[in-house]
Amino acid sequence: MSESDEHQTEIPDPKVRAAGGTEYSWCRAVPGGTGITVLSLVLCKYPDISRIEAALSRLQVSHPILRSRIHFDAPCNTFYFLTPCNPHVKIQSFDLQSTSHILQSFSDDSHIDPNQILLEHELNRNSWSRNDDDDGGGADQADRDVFFVSLYTISETRWLLVFRLHTSACDRAAAVGLLRELLEMVGGERAEMAEETETGNEEKQVGIEDLIPSGKANKSLWVRGVDLLGYSLNSFRLANLNFIDADSARHSQVVRLKMNQSDTHRLVAGCKSRGIKLCGALAAAGLIAARSTKPLPDHQTEKYAVITLTDCRSILEPALSSNHFGFYHSAILNTHDVTARDYVWELASRCYTSFSNAKNNNKHFTDMSDLNFLMCKAIDNPGLTPSSSMRTAFISIFEDPVIDESNKLHQEIGLVDYVGCSSVHGIGPTIAVFDTIRDGCLDCACVYPAPLHSREQMQELIESMKRILADGIISLQSNS
Ligand SMILES: *[C@@H]1O[C@H](CO)[C@@H](O)[C@H](O)[C@H]1NC(C)=O
Ligand SMILES: *[C@@H]1O[C@H](CO)[C@@H](O)[C@H](O)[C@H]1NC(C)=O
Repeated sequence: MSESDEHQTEIPDPKVRAAGGTEYSWCRAVPGGTGITVLSLVLCKYPDISRIEAALSRLQVSHPILRSRIHFDAPCNTFYFLTPCNPHVKIQSFDLQSTSHILQSFSDDSHIDPNQILLEHELNRNSWSRNDDDDGGGADQADRDVFFVSLYTISETRWLLVFRLHTSACDRAAAVGLLRELLEMVGGERAEMAEETETGNEEKQVGIEDLIPSGKANKSLWVRGVDLLGYSLNSFRLANLNFIDADSARHSQVVRLKMNQSDTHRLVAGCKSRGIKLCGALAAAGLIAARSTKPLPDHQTEKYAVITLTDCRSILEPALSSNHFGFYHSAILNTHDVTARDYVWELASRCYTSFSNAKNNNKHFTDMSDLNFLMCKAIDNPGLTPSSSMRTAFISIFEDPVIDESNKLHQEIGLVDYVGCSSVHGIGPTIAVFDTIRDGCLDCACVYPAPLHSREQMQELIESMKRILADGIISLQSNS
């Protein structure tokens, strides 16, 4: 049966909505390899598949975008979300043998934790690229689901349950909501709750552009032109980490930056005492670590770009709840001159202040369409970026970390670890930081494009960031 036949019988009457501007950009970016969002859960108990599938179905009922497919209309160059009435989700299971087969195909990285290999494998399973038929529907214009679930068997006592989503349907806040709701349904009381909560209050599907408070996105054509020029001229002067291999096809890899509870506590307290957020300190450590890899005179400045992603749900009109599914983040791009003499707390304050000033001036609303436009321009013309690296910034961070206090639901399904992050090997930053503070410990998944950058290079960068942050914590204490 062809994809379209299946589509006819399965989806008699899908709701159709054209993608908004930001969603359109993601629909353009994901086929190239940026914006594959993965949430991977390491389990020490064999999961009850039928229970999880039932929970996923209920998630698809209450969050219609999760059951949507993306349709590309070539003549109009428009993407549509087609949302059928009924949920449909299947877990693709890999037994011990097929899982170890996948693990073996990464034999050159055999010293790496199997959970991480599979996480990277999933970050690179692109069900939305034009010529990929990994998940069926090999035909060029076939509609693609936005949500896939896989279960890998690592050993007799270890499983990896992985959710993979198109970023237009699921930003980081939605991924956090997905995990929380799933845990509540599979492990907690909500499993027994009646269906009535699910019907009638279906989540409204709408692009972020339609929810910008009135007047806040205004910008005269003249200002818009000048800003666009500024952004694009700047991009030629931006510094980056040295490229290792700019010619080979790229994929995403992950390095984790972890900090123990006492160091995390002191780092967060240090930020608070300076009136800044953690994102400022993480960006500053990244910039100083990158600058330190350059054999330049100490005083010489290099200009690096930082992208800060801010969750707009609470400031939209009308405001959306924190777990409203979809993509409701906006980006603010700032550049910073960095020398080898910069001090982490001073640079952290500069990073955070320029971000918060931009946000106070509504840049996250006024520049949204400009940044989307530039992203699509670079996708069409990789040569606009240095060595066609498709790097638009050195680092991307979130304004606020995910805070997670482990709860008994984790134990109930045997959740021992999890990582949530997104691929960046199409267009994107050199390093995308997805930070969580879990049980008081900082845990960042740092995603980068390989082999543009090597694992060794990134491990060194992350070690260096950690050292810079640790030195900052110590200096802070000796000063007070
Ligand atoms: C923004 O644009 C709207 C509609 O064009 C207009 O009514 C409003 O006064 C403008 N606001 C500002 C702050 O310029
Ligand atoms: C936390 O980590 C730092 C740096 O690795 C180390 O010096 C410190 O002893 C650790 N603290 C605890 C309580 O483990």
